[in-house]
Amino acid sequence: MDFILLGPPGAGKGTQAKLMIDKWSIPQISTGDILRAAVREGTSLGVEAKGFMDRGELVPDRVVIGIIAERLKEKDARKGFILDGFPRTIPQAEALGTILQDLGRNIDHVISIEVDEEELVRRLTGRRMCKNCGESFHVVFNPPAREGVCDRCKGELYQRDDDKEETIRQRLAVYGQQTEPLIAYYSRTGNLRRIDGFSSIEDIFSRIVEAVGG
Ligand code: AP5
Ligand code: MG
Ligand code: ZN
Repeated sequence: MDFILLGPPGAGKGTQAKLMIDKWSIPQISTGDILRAAVREGTSLGVEAKGFMDRGELVPDRVVIGIIAERLKEKDARKGFILDGFPRTIPQAEALGTILQDLGRNIDHVISIEVDEEELVRRLTGRRMCKNCGESFHVVFNPPAREGVCDRCKGELYQRDDDKEETIRQRLAVYGQQTEPLIAYYSRTGNLRRIDGFSSIEDIFSRIVEAVGG
């Protein structure tokens, strides 16, 4: 199973990816998580990416394409993978096509999770993320059992730097301009599954499972 999770900031890509890992035992590959780890570690990748991320802009295509080309070669991705937050532009989608062709595989399902803007802002302003495993929580909609502590791995929860309302609006605008065209792009390849993402986390997961045929 090779999946792409497509959707605006706050749609629930990360949240659904964690449920998909448990069901299909395949890794989540999140360019956002990889970039945030690089920022925390202060690597040259992190230094280059930080300014773009803090402004709510996309990191240059060549940078994220390089990350994905390397990551997809790793052993744990052989059985399948969940791409979360990649591709995000048409050139990234085209590069992914070439990378997969070279590996002799192809995307089975592009899952587009669709949620309206005001709900996205509510989700993102209340989000708390795990520093260790990247799991998302929400202070009201999906609170952890113990405040500030990840249910999954006991890691510390924090608020992302780009989850300020102004930056959120900018990220949503960038999504509309640069990423949303991928819905039309993938509708031409015939494996696009559009999911109404305005529902409970469990409902959305059931819709995904149903859309991909169990
Ligand atoms: P990235 O980390 O990918 O952020 P994003 O796309 O903005 O998406 P989010 O992680 O904010 O949202 P999500 O859909 O994962 O939602 P979540 O499940 O957490 O990217 C960050 C930055 O890195 C980018 O801005 C860019 O700079 C750079 N970058 C990354 N990839 C790149 C690429 N390919 N090219 C260029 N640059 C790139 O859920 C959100 C909240 O809602 C949580 O609080 C959650 O608990 C809650 N929630 C989830 N589901 C529900 C529900 N059904 N009902 C109520 N609440 C819910
Ligand atoms: Mg995410
Ligand atoms: Zn965790």
